[in-house]
Amino acid sequence: MNYPTPHIKATPEDFGQTVLMPGDPLRSKYIADHFLENPVLVNNVRGVQGYTGTYKGVKVSVMASGMGMPSIGIYSHELYNAYGVQNILRIGSAGAIQPDINLKDIVMAMGASSDSAWGRQFHLAGTFSPICSYEMLHAAVQSAEEAGAVYRVGNILSSDAFYYDDEGIPESLDSVKTWQKMGIMAIEMESAALYLNAARFHKNALCICTVSDQLVRHEYLTAEERQTGFEEMMKVALETAVKLEK
Ligand code: HPA
Repeated sequence: MNYPTPHIKATPEDFGQTVLMPGDPLRSKYIADHFLENPVLVNNVRGVQGYTGTYKGVKVSVMASGMGMPSIGIYSHELYNAYGVQNILRIGSAGAIQPDINLKDIVMAMGASSDSAWGRQFHLAGTFSPICSYEMLHAAVQSAEEAGAVYRVGNILSSDAFYYDDEGIPESLDSVKTWQKMGIMAIEMESAALYLNAARFHKNALCICTVSDQLVRHEYLTAEERQTGFEEMMKVALETAVKLEK
């Protein structure tokens, strides 16, 4: 695939081998400003800010994915195929649907189940299991242990909907009860597409999320708490990027 691409105006040299991907472009800028040394804006198409700088001497990029599978599908496709990116580490937020997972915990998606039709494009004659990169997961678990973070590793649900028709859920949980019974830890909206693209293009991906909503107990982080919880995950993500470079 040639560059520039329809959604990223940059060159392969502009990106590190690992790209951290929050959903929100402003969060991407916050990470660049607060955690990277010498950050340079490398993409700003549609305001989807991408920055590259260094962390502990390692070249690391951060660029937003937008919300939902179609959006992360586009950005991961272009990063993997036109810009030579090897590792995409999604750093998101998620709604926990198990009672024993708490606000601010980090969930690491070993697998990403989905209610989406996005993966049908691959014409698979069965059920493909979108899974993360073991190497990235191993590095992230090590980094979480070092940071003393509370984390869980397991299956998550990448959903196409944030608001379900039954009573403006997530609150009612009705739409996700069956997933809850299968031990799904939390819901978010991007990982399955990211993992499918990584599989298809022989690249690496991992999603780690801070729990911002506890949907069983109806608990929600305040804007301020979202920030603090997020900073711990950021450290885990950046240390993961450093480990992947070695
Ligand atoms: N649903 C989907 N995505 C989310 C949620 C949720 O409840 N919370 C944070 N991201």
